[in-house]
Amino acid sequence: MKHLVSMADLSAEEIIDILEVAEDHKEKRMRGKATDLLKNKSLAMIFEKSSTRTRVSFEVAMSDLGGHSLYLNYNDIQIGRGESIADTAKVLSRYVHGICARVNSHETIEQLARYSTVPVINALSDLEHPCQILADLLTIKEYKNRFEGLKFAWIGDGNNVCNSSILGCALLGIDIAVACPEGYDPDSQILEMAREIGANVTITRSTQEAAENADILYTDVWISMGEESEREKRLKDLAEYQINSDLVNIAKNDVIVMHCLPAHRGEEITEDVMEGPHSVIFDQAENRLHAQKALILRLMS
Ligand code: CP
Ligand code: NVA
Repeated sequence: MKHLVSMADLSAEEIIDILEVAEDHKEKRMRGKATDLLKNKSLAMIFEKSSTRTRVSFEVAMSDLGGHSLYLNYNDIQIGRGESIADTAKVLSRYVHGICARVNSHETIEQLARYSTVPVINALSDLEHPCQILADLLTIKEYKNRFEGLKFAWIGDGNNVCNSSILGCALLGIDIAVACPEGYDPDSQILEMAREIGANVTITRSTQEAAENADILYTDVWISMGEESEREKRLKDLAEYQINSDLVNIAKNDVIVMHCLPAHRGEEITEDVMEGPHSVIFDQAENRLHAQKALILRLMS
């Protein structure tokens, strides 16, 4: 049994394998070919925060594979009334074949994994968002057909999605430059872990330096879930860290622009870039379905 708590739980070989399974199932779905590889299997999905893509893509993936998913809002289950994470993990493990969870604190997902006897998947925590990065790597593969030596430029807040991107890039040999203001650096332990893996990672205050020669420009919201009270400060601090046409022009001619969504057009990315010829943002969103399908197949079948 294996959990996906951090992007670093996967090896490069495992990521490549998941992407191949994802491509296979993407093609099957386009041809309308159904499978029942997860027949009689159930996935419990615990959500402590909002979600559109993650929730729907996991539910549809389970349904496409002949399995069943249960959406469990944190407040509707007994965790909301104080039942421990450990007991919840032990009990759910008696019913289902996998648990995915979107949580505030990364510690919650670690605890779920510690006490669960079925695979636990991190569907976003304050520290990481590995499911997103699997879909992003699938998208990069589709557009660039390689990983090694690409330059990935992260523009904006060094948040959970950034942390997992750094680890994903480290594992697959993609160079990564993070442009963020002081106080918004990616997690230091993640950086250390990535460097141990062999990452070529640069942290800079200059969006220009990060975007120069970039194959991929990536951004995420300036105000993540749970940070709403910091809105005014974040808008001010991150104002210069926007993906706009000037920045796109600094990157390679065939740069792809990525965003995990949801987006705040006019803040971290401009409307014209989001809808422009370099944007692969909605392919990325679609690929959540295919990548997660491959992931649950590998963890649950
Ligand atoms: N990108 C992402 O995880 O989207 P949701 O918050 O809608 O699930
Ligand atoms: N950084 C964002 C990602 C949303 C998918 C957040 O945590 O809200």
